[in-house]
Amino acid sequence: MTIVAEESLAPAGRTSQVLREATARAHENAERSAFVADLMGGRLGVAAYARLVGQLVHVYRALEDTGARLTGDPVADAVLDDRLDRVPSLESDLAALGVDPAGEPMLPVTIDYVAAIEACDDDAVRYLAHHYTRYLGDLSGGQIIASRMRLHYGVPDEALAFYRFTGIDKLKRYKDGYRERLDALDLDRDALARLTTEAIGAFEFNQRLFTELEN
Ligand code: HEM
Repeated sequence: MTIVAEESLAPAGRTSQVLREATARAHENAERSAFVADLMGGRLGVAAYARLVGQLVHVYRALEDTGARLTGDPVADAVLDDRLDRVPSLESDLAALGVDPAGEPMLPVTIDYVAAIEACDDDAVRYLAHHYTRYLGDLSGGQIIASRMRLHYGVPDEALAFYRFTGIDKLKRYKDGYRERLDALDLDRDALARLTTEAIGAFEFNQRLFTELEN
């Protein structure tokens, strides 16, 4: 019986599926938050979108700086890819939106989110959770966000570089490859637990960010 329970927690080679299932509810909650629903429904303005980008730039600086420090670790190397780097595009989007490219002062949640990412310096498995939560999201629902920002608020393409992955031809194929690389990692039960717990936490930071942006 014990063996069955362990197998169901860590099915061989299906890390991507475990991760997706573990975060499904957190994803729904984030998608349903009032800020996201209002932004996506055209009830806010370009300034609200700019405030979101002004926080995200801090998050991606932490993601990309921490990723650079983890380069060479086989777990981190499975997902690290310069073509995903978002800081330059976030900075150019901010400039196009008329915001300081350095970003806006960090909200309390952003301070905590950045600290959580930086604390993964010594644990590539937990870092992977943050990488997955943001970049796979940008490659998925992010594309829908870009088209809504264009449609509702007339955000010009030069302020939406964040959603353009130059050098990645087919996003779907890239995401499939990303999941295959996750599945090829030989994560033990403990690592898988750390991964899913951290990913749920990463979604919760995003949800808190939406709550703080609402106010
Ligand atoms: C406007 C709100 C959002 C929309 C419309 C949206 C939509 C989507 C869609 C359509 C997918 C593709 C699902 C599939 O491939 O079957 C997806 C996947 C994903 N989203 Fe979102 N999403 C939103 C918000 C978020 C947020 C806030 C995060 C976290 C920061 C996030 C993270 C992810 C991740 C990690 C995936 C990949 C799931 C997987 O295949 O493992 N999304 N999203």
